[in-house]
Amino acid sequence: MCGIIGHAGKGENIVPKCLQKLEYRGYDSAGIAALNSSGIEVSKGVGTVDEAVEAPQGSAAIGHTRWATHGGVTQTNAHPHTDPDGRVAVVHNGIIDNHSDLREEVGEGRFESETDTEVIPHLLAQHLKEGLDPRAAAEEVTDRLEGSYAAVALLEGGQMVAFKQGAPLAVARNQDEHFFSSDVVPLLEHVNEAAFLQDGDIAILDSDLRVFNQGREVERDSQEIQWEGGSATRGDFDHFTRKEIGEQPETIKRATFQDEESLTEAAGMLEKARTVWITGCGTSSYAADHMRDYLAPEVDARSIQSHELEYRTDEVGDDDAVVAVSQSGETKDLLAALEGIEAPVLSFLNVAQSSLERRSDHTIHINAGPEVGVASTKAYTAQLTAMKTVAAELKDQEQVLESLRSTAEKAERLVKASESLAEKLHGALKGEDAYFVGRYQRFHSAKEASLKLKELSYIHSEAFPAGEFKHGTLALVEEGTPVVGFVDEETADETLSNLEEASSRGAEIIGVGPKDRDVYDLHVPIPEDPNREMLEVIPFQMLALKTALDRGNDPDRPRNLAKSVTVK
Ligand code: G6P
Repeated sequence: MCGIIGHAGKGENIVPKCLQKLEYRGYDSAGIAALNSSGIEVSKGVGTVDEAVEAPQGSAAIGHTRWATHGGVTQTNAHPHTDPDGRVAVVHNGIIDNHSDLREEVGEGRFESETDTEVIPHLLAQHLKEGLDPRAAAEEVTDRLEGSYAAVALLEGGQMVAFKQGAPLAVARNQDEHFFSSDVVPLLEHVNEAAFLQDGDIAILDSDLRVFNQGREVERDSQEIQWEGGSATRGDFDHFTRKEIGEQPETIKRATFQDEESLTEAAGMLEKARTVWITGCGTSSYAADHMRDYLAPEVDARSIQSHELEYRTDEVGDDDAVVAVSQSGETKDLLAALEGIEAPVLSFLNVAQSSLERRSDHTIHINAGPEVGVASTKAYTAQLTAMKTVAAELKDQEQVLESLRSTAEKAERLVKASESLAEKLHGALKGEDAYFVGRYQRFHSAKEASLKLKELSYIHSEAFPAGEFKHGTLALVEEGTPVVGFVDEETADETLSNLEEASSRGAEIIGVGPKDRDVYDLHVPIPEDPNREMLEVIPFQMLALKTALDRGNDPDRPRNLAKSVTVK
């Protein structure tokens, strides 16, 4: 939520370009503050970076792309925020929990916006006015802040001050420039390595960057950025989401390439655990559901969404293990749940060096490359693949790797076929409601397919176990209501009965699976495959994209959502 950038040095228009690459973190509004000969100049507004900002130029600049938490989506609430004299400008990602108390202290009348952030420039400016140097002023301010923050301040004197607690902030440099950034994606074209600040760090950028923690100067080692320069660009594609759907044959294959020692360690952690708690949010939580089934029955595993796990951490024993699943590694609900847990943490992660990697005892990288589309596509199928690879290691199922690579080939054919499948599905999903059902593993896929549709098309869509239909939702079925059923051999008899029950009440039945069945009005053929869960969502990813475009929605940036949810 919210992306922040700081840049000092040569190079024109760096901040707006970098900011655009962070828009997946929030795109309600945007703003830039730059330092030039007349002082700090701020340009901000509602909308995307392109719409909202007339990029001010300067030797040092900060920028922000917002996902509103405190205060509506208005130009005044957009960042950067400044002190009343315009001597300090601040961009912030996170939430200052005690902002009301701090506002009262500063004096309510002095604030322009409704945001929690605005207290930061006010307090910083006060301390600088008292004569403190930037580092001492930042120490005073961070002592007072409660909550989570990654913040970069641009000072009238030309220095930049950054501090972080809970939210991510990377620092990087090349010969001519210094950067601060919420993640490495905007930096790919500028640097080869980056370091991540740690909680409590205060970074001061003057002629050089120095980092302090608890009053002492510290080193934060840079690590090579694994992603290639062009990998976060759209290329010839109209949207990132289309590009990322199309990358899945490659990313599924890539996720199987895991270091043998790393696999052994991961499998060992799961094997010796009394109970394995698998957790994530959104799409990652549906991958977690699948993983539970990959591990059972050898391992006692439970899948639970992170915001719910937070209330059960006292049930997690020290001899259990937690599997944390996240594309970004920054999801606050997940990181918060892990706070109360002593058990070892194994993570499945796409973004290296993220907060989750630092919190984990061991990490399996799913190697999907940057995923920019807000609704997760390739990261999901890569998560499933990496999880299945670990489960195969644990169960000594050598043939699984081979089968996953052959699934990747089938994915290639399915991606191609999905264009026309999506067209047919689009014709069938005419109304404002859709229901997705399945049993056992097919239910997990139904949830993910439904989520994709909801996220990108804004059509009301619900997923539930097929057996649950007659216990309530059947009352909502009318003539033509679309019901999508995920059917496999194991669950066919019962799921088909449930679909019959809906069909006889007028539902339009869309069946997903290898075989066409009498009850289907439309069949979405999925090849027979032991890793079918990686294939059966693909037509629905494409459907979601198509429906979004048809309705004039931006599929890469669905309304109200953000890719990296760093607030609870
Ligand atoms: C947000 C995104 C979802 C994503 C979820 C979990 O809600 O909009 O697409 O599935 O966060 O994100 P993570 O990075 O932890 O996988």
